[in-house]
Amino acid sequence: MNEREVADVLVIGSGAAGLCAALHLAKNQRVCVLSKTGLFSGSTYWAQGGIAAVLDHADSLQAHVEDTLVAGAGLCHVDTVEKVVAASAAAVRWLVDMGVAFSPAADGADAGVASPHLTREAGHRHRRIVHSDDATGRALSRSLAERVREARTIRVCEQQIAVDLVVQGDGLGRRCAGAYVLDLPSGRVRLWQARAVILATGGASKVYLYSTNPDGASGDGIAMAWRAGCRVANMEFNQFHPTCLFHPQARSLLLSEALRGEGAHLTLPDGTRFMHRFHPDAELAPRDVVARAIDHEMKRTGCDHLLLDISHKPAEFVRGHFPNIHRRCAALGLDMTREPLPVVPAAHYSCGGVWVDGNGQTDLRNLYAIGEVAFTGMHGACRLAGNSLSECLVYARLAAEDIARRIAAIPPPAQARDWDETRVTSSDEDVVIAHNWDELRRFMWDYVGIVRTDKRLRRARHRIDLLQREIQEFYSRYRVTRDLIELRNLAVVAERIIVAASERKESRGLHYSLDYPQPLPVAKDSLMTPPNFAGERNK
Ligand code: FAD
Ligand code: SIN
Repeated sequence: MNEREVADVLVIGSGAAGLCAALHLAKNQRVCVLSKTGLFSGSTYWAQGGIAAVLDHADSLQAHVEDTLVAGAGLCHVDTVEKVVAASAAAVRWLVDMGVAFSPAADGADAGVASPHLTREAGHRHRRIVHSDDATGRALSRSLAERVREARTIRVCEQQIAVDLVVQGDGLGRRCAGAYVLDLPSGRVRLWQARAVILATGGASKVYLYSTNPDGASGDGIAMAWRAGCRVANMEFNQFHPTCLFHPQARSLLLSEALRGEGAHLTLPDGTRFMHRFHPDAELAPRDVVARAIDHEMKRTGCDHLLLDISHKPAEFVRGHFPNIHRRCAALGLDMTREPLPVVPAAHYSCGGVWVDGNGQTDLRNLYAIGEVAFTGMHGACRLAGNSLSECLVYARLAAEDIARRIAAIPPPAQARDWDETRVTSSDEDVVIAHNWDELRRFMWDYVGIVRTDKRLRRARHRIDLLQREIQEFYSRYRVTRDLIELRNLAVVAERIIVAASERKESRGLHYSLDYPQPLPVAKDSLMTPPNFAGERNK
């Protein structure tokens, strides 16, 4: 097997952000897209509700901007929000050109192109979510993957896990020149060299015990960028989705917010609605409010779940709007047209991430970060539904355009060292890794979850310090495996979340502290600088 590979642009990640960037770049560059397992391994494939974009004449860009800012609780960057919102409709039209079929408006007009059906989700005052039934991510992923496979200049490499970035040069001359990548089938680590690297590795919600995300959401991109000297921001803002199905045989089955958008009620086990006690918009309040209200009611009543009920709507309507959720629940013996569904909140989205500029460039020259891995300022202290995919699409294009403008001036990277395995052996105690995975995700859930206190955060800090030492020792002695790579990255992410949460002495958006229940008068990002900071980018 070749131990060294070369591309013009290396895209790490095959979700919406990575595939869109690759397609935008493919006209002029040789692009390689890496994916941890299969092409559909990211969160994108599982996206349900849809993509937020202003497509209805009764709606306005201003209204979408305002709704985003309200949910973001003072921390959104207005310029970013305006830019993404303004570009979202064009991004949706581009998806239609790529072959994505959106659900048509109820009047039967032309599917997707001229008149898509728009659903509603919490925090949006208008119907502005374009969707493909209740499986938008599947439709989007399949079409993008087809286009990527047709493109002659894009190479797709599955079963490849980036371990760390290759950094060359000193001081302000430091730049990213590729990545070391574990080839899963052979267990060997290869050197990938490229003029530009795009991190499109998704979020880090697997840092929590209960999550809506697929297994690979271990924050690899955030951890790799941090180790390479890039700043990360607002790591304390983890979004918990209010309604994950509570069922012993269902792992991570999300019950889309569009259910509430189309009229579903949240109730206590006795059928009583409660959300009006927490927010005037009741079930359609911003996500942080709904998740916290459910958490509060579960703790108050001692119940291990609450209920989501859409059974008052006609069965035909429910099956028509939510065919996949209906089918998946039916397979578990639950008929949502006749009975309420048991729900609990679960970690869903990382609002923080790798700090980037307006084109997705990180602090390290030639390294870009787009999609959920990045912090653009779009989501502030709480992301609005549908805005993640809009941000993925818009920043994928911006980063690709920036790379296309700059790449001719980027010299080919100098030859980097191969991966050194001379001082490691194969582990004979993988139980340590399995144990540490469980321990980390459990204390993050218990101590750094929906409601936080200084005391719990101190406990978490103590534990993560111990775990970090153990993991580092393990990493220096044994060959890397997928579990070890992910655990090492989860520990970095967990530490950043705990530090940022401990330093935020207020409650705002998704960060709620019993010790500081009010927001401070001035909203500030928590920008964290690594010890080996790459320096302000010098283009
Ligand atoms: P992902 O789609 O997560 O892709 C990450 C990619 O990186 C994967 O291909 C993975 O294999 C790869 N990768 C990761 N680490 C490595 C590594 N070390 N080496 C190589 N490859 C790596 N948002 C919306 O806007 N609307 C919705 O309706 C919606 N519904 C959602 C429903 C669910 C169940 C979930 C989990 C999320 C939902 N979200 C939704 C959020 C949204 O889907 C994600 O934020 C978005 O898809 C992220 O896209 P991405 O391309 O950044 O990352
Ligand atoms: C959902 O369909 O509820 C998820 C939407 C999102 O996370 O944006």
